[in-house]
Amino acid sequence: MNHNKKIHIETWGCQMNVADSERILALLAKENYARAESEHDANLIVLNTCHIREKAKHKVISRLGQLRNLKTARKDLKIAVVGCVAQAEGKKLISAAPYVDYVLGPSKLEQLPELLKHDRSAIAVGFKNTGNATDTTASPALSGRQEVSRFLNIMQGCNNYCTFCVVPYTRGPEKSVAMPTLVAQAKSLLNTGAKEITLLGQNVNSYGKDLPDQTSNPFVELLYTIGALPGLQRLRFTTSNPHDFSTALIKSFEHVSTLGRYTHLPVQSGSDVILQKMRRKTNVAQIKSIISALRCPAPDFAVSTDIIVGFPGETDDDFQHTVALVEDIRFSFIFAFKYSPRPRTPAARFHHQVPEEIKSKRLNYLLSRQKEITTEQNSNEIGNERKVLILYQSKKEPQIYYGRTDHFRLVRVFSQADIVGKMLTVKIITANATALVGQL
Ligand code: 5AD
Ligand code: SF4
Repeated sequence: MNHNKKIHIETWGCQMNVADSERILALLAKENYARAESEHDANLIVLNTCHIREKAKHKVISRLGQLRNLKTARKDLKIAVVGCVAQAEGKKLISAAPYVDYVLGPSKLEQLPELLKHDRSAIAVGFKNTGNATDTTASPALSGRQEVSRFLNIMQGCNNYCTFCVVPYTRGPEKSVAMPTLVAQAKSLLNTGAKEITLLGQNVNSYGKDLPDQTSNPFVELLYTIGALPGLQRLRFTTSNPHDFSTALIKSFEHVSTLGRYTHLPVQSGSDVILQKMRRKTNVAQIKSIISALRCPAPDFAVSTDIIVGFPGETDDDFQHTVALVEDIRFSFIFAFKYSPRPRTPAARFHHQVPEEIKSKRLNYLLSRQKEITTEQNSNEIGNERKVLILYQSKKEPQIYYGRTDHFRLVRVFSQADIVGKMLTVKIITANATALVGQL
């Protein structure tokens, strides 16, 4: 194919954005676009933005500022801001940076190829009101990616309205992709070399509840169906919410072997008072009982989590409950964030916002405590033999490969042969806080 146009894309934020960027690449590959080496040889620059924490708009504007000279120098260059900041800011982005050509929210990405054919700027934000989400996953052939680990977008949006979270406003209401479409997409990923598939959604447990012919637990049905596809070695999903983590979902880890022994379960806080203010519709006892149930048949079942420190009204005592939960559960790793007030969300207007220095102190304490726990857990792996799915080759050291165990622990191995995509038995010889080192 003769590519005469080139796209440079920058992706911030969650895995959903990574998947959206792949989709943009796939849509534009159909229009004969190839990937640029850098922003300097691109005809189209796309910034795929994230709005989850503050300074998001500021980050975008400052990046746009850097791109301004390129735009002035090259009349044929188009700049698009897409994703959640585009959705939230809309035409304010054009006022701040008038040289931006397109502003597209996450539900409007498919308009980009058509817009590029006309020489005028455009803003498209908002959500589709009818129908279900379709075709949200990039065709692997078109996006040019052949990685072992691939994402499959199973739904858009979220209906939960946790009081801190901007997602329901930037990604709109939940919309699921029909199951037959997903199965076909999963097969196509497997046909092009995928061995691991991660099902993506903001709130995957409620997958399918908006579909017309729903069964009692469509998400679990999806796990059983995709989990059994020939060629699939590992099935993962993110993000699930403790408040509707059903017994059937817990059981699926026993029956669907590709699910392995790991899940990501965002708890956000270890204090019931704070969980209630966050509108998480769950409490610490329920979170613990889910994890106990997962660990009943598999005591070493690994769980990672997301935690917010310094939510409005969080006292030292509330924070100590979070520390206690982290120590009790012994997560394999945590993503911890300082609470950041987001526009339109209820918590931004709550009284008793926590001062920045207290948030930083709590964050640092939690992260250092977790680092000790992760290091201990990783050290306990020394001497074990683990099945490792080799995911990629190191860019800097060609004979070094990285993979993950059933428990999602990162393993570094040395090999002279290309082992990418293979499921291999590896003996763990050393470990630190970030990874294990294994021997084939
Ligand atoms: N402030 C800080 N962290 C947040 N998250 C979501 N919204 C906010 C916010 N306003 C975190 C949550 C979520 C993760 C993706 O980002 O922990 O699980
Ligand atoms: Fe945000 Fe809560 Fe929805 Fe997760 S479940 S995307 S935290 S509103």
